[in-house]
Amino acid sequence: MAIEIRATGRAVPKNRVTNDELAKKIDTSDEWIRSHTGIGARHIAGEDQSTSSLALEAAKQALSAAAGKTGIDEDAVKEQAATLDLILIATATADYYGCPSVACLVQHGLGAVNAAAMDISAGCTGFVYGLETASGLLGISDSRKRALVIGAETLTRVANWEDRGTCVLFGDGAGAVLLEKTGETGKRGIVRSVLGADGSGSEALIMRRGGTKNPFKKGETVELPTVIEMDGRAVYNFAVKAVTGAIEFLMDREGLAMDAIKYIIPHQANARIIHAAGKRLHIPEEKLYLNIEEYANTSSASIPIALDELNKAGKLQKGDIILTVGFGGGLTYGGNVIIW
Ligand code: COA
Repeated sequence: MAIEIRATGRAVPKNRVTNDELAKKIDTSDEWIRSHTGIGARHIAGEDQSTSSLALEAAKQALSAAAGKTGIDEDAVKEQAATLDLILIATATADYYGCPSVACLVQHGLGAVNAAAMDISAGCTGFVYGLETASGLLGISDSRKRALVIGAETLTRVANWEDRGTCVLFGDGAGAVLLEKTGETGKRGIVRSVLGADGSGSEALIMRRGGTKNPFKKGETVELPTVIEMDGRAVYNFAVKAVTGAIEFLMDREGLAMDAIKYIIPHQANARIIHAAGKRLHIPEEKLYLNIEEYANTSSASIPIALDELNKAGKLQKGDIILTVGFGGGLTYGGNVIIW
């Protein structure tokens, strides 16, 4: 048995905002943002878009691709959706507080009447957690065969646009993969994962207002809506350690030499974090996939968006070994070894 990736998809809002455009509204500059993060632009969801609408579009792209279609083919989507047993959505920016989950909204949007649906809350590591969770849920039951795992976010809706230290970092988008349990006996698909957390760092990346611990009260004048607060330095230090640790662990457990790995797809939070980890592990530049310049940090969507880009560009061949590695709010970290 193997849990293989059958198809991928992505959805990114059309509204692309460059650093220079941002600098017209915020006290920042293209030079500062690029030199500190590697970010050149971000895509911002329109008023008619939401985390669930981006997730639905990415899901439709993946299901159409699974049927051999380019773009979205609604007939193919309908047919494929009926075969889904599970929909997992990793997100830190769900449409609604508590319930319904984004996954249930997408399940309905797809007409995936046979699928269980739930969200995963693991910060920017959510997609990495999602791949392992779906693998486990498919593997443990004879009756489950196909799962959609999606990372979807509208982080610009919870960015504090008065805090130049954080708002310039984030973008919106969604990426989806279709997983299928196959009879393959050799090593294929999601072959190993590492998942971890360090809740002692929970305040380093936090949305403090709006939850049950600190709810908005009737009649209260809200100075700030629910926004992301971040201790950038603390997250940076955690991230470099988490990325290097996860890659080393996965390579060690799988007995992998660097030469054997085609791509490492890190969570796209900051190019400096990725380069620092790459330097420590002597990872050749061409193996580290980077697209942060175009999308900024799309949290749990960043890894599946990158996977879809590589896949659609024809850069992944059967048998290629890929590592994903993520870190984020919680604090959480994790990685997957995927044999394409
Ligand atoms: N434009 C211009 N100047 C800015 C700025 C912006 N957008 N944001 C901050 N600055 C200024 C600060 O005010 C400060 O100025 P000062 O020295 O006059 O006080 C200076 O730049 C340095 O700020 P600092 O916060 O110390 O910068 P940094 O080098 O630590 O970089 C981050 C900040 C956020 C880029 C970096 O800490 C980081 O990437 N951390 C990890 C964040 C992350 O990955 N989060 C997501 C996890 S999933």
